[in-house]
Amino acid sequence: MELFAEQGDGHVAVLRHHGLVDAMAIYDLGCGSGRTAQALQRAGWQGSYVGADIVPGLVQEMRRSCPGYVGKVHLDPSIDAADASLDMVFHWSVFTHISVEECFLYMQDTFRALKPGGKLIFSFLEIGHVPHEQVFDSRVARRARGKQLALLDTFLHPDWIRHWAARIGFEPPAFTSGNDGTHHPPFWQSLVAMRKPL
Ligand SMILES: C[S@@+](CC[C@H](N)C(=O)[O-])C[C@H]1O[C@@H](n2cnc3c(N)ncnc32)[C@H](O)[C@@H]1O
Repeated sequence: MELFAEQGDGHVAVLRHHGLVDAMAIYDLGCGSGRTAQALQRAGWQGSYVGADIVPGLVQEMRRSCPGYVGKVHLDPSIDAADASLDMVFHWSVFTHISVEECFLYMQDTFRALKPGGKLIFSFLEIGHVPHEQVFDSRVARRARGKQLALLDTFLHPDWIRHWAARIGFEPPAFTSGNDGTHHPPFWQSLVAMRKPL
């Protein structure tokens, strides 16, 4: 199977592991061209899906490939949804490319938009986790050689995420390396899930 589809199916397995069922209202931050949306559609999942991204062409492609789902261009570091309206907010490879301030703002606004008991699930590059730290070190070395870093790659530490979660009001987050393969196919980044208290 093509990697794009295989990874999308992996996203759905992660969501199912964290309790995704039909009829939920879910929000895919940084949905891109619809990797997760297409996988949800293939899996026959029924519910209210909103994908948001800052790149209009990607949102257009997501809408084209998944006509039953909603795609929004949303530029602010916020969740384009009413208070306490969502069962799940998730994002893959998004906190990897934005500033830590924006990460915090997205987490804070996610809390507002989640229903009590709703979940936030996301992937991140983890400082202190060997394969990720090797990427960090190679970027440091590149910059030290006088080269520019074309893309912003943001690395987070679980302690920061724990701290932000507590500050915002989430229950203590649960982390996995993403790679143990017990509940879903190996992911290429670390994963964290946290719940808004009931
Ligand atoms: C590496 S891609 C991942 C796309 C998708 N989540 C997936 O797994 O296929 C990162 C996505 O985040 C989007 N993005 C970047 N900065 C963003 C921001 N501040 N708010 C929302 N989306 C953003 C990009 O346009 C891109 O579609």
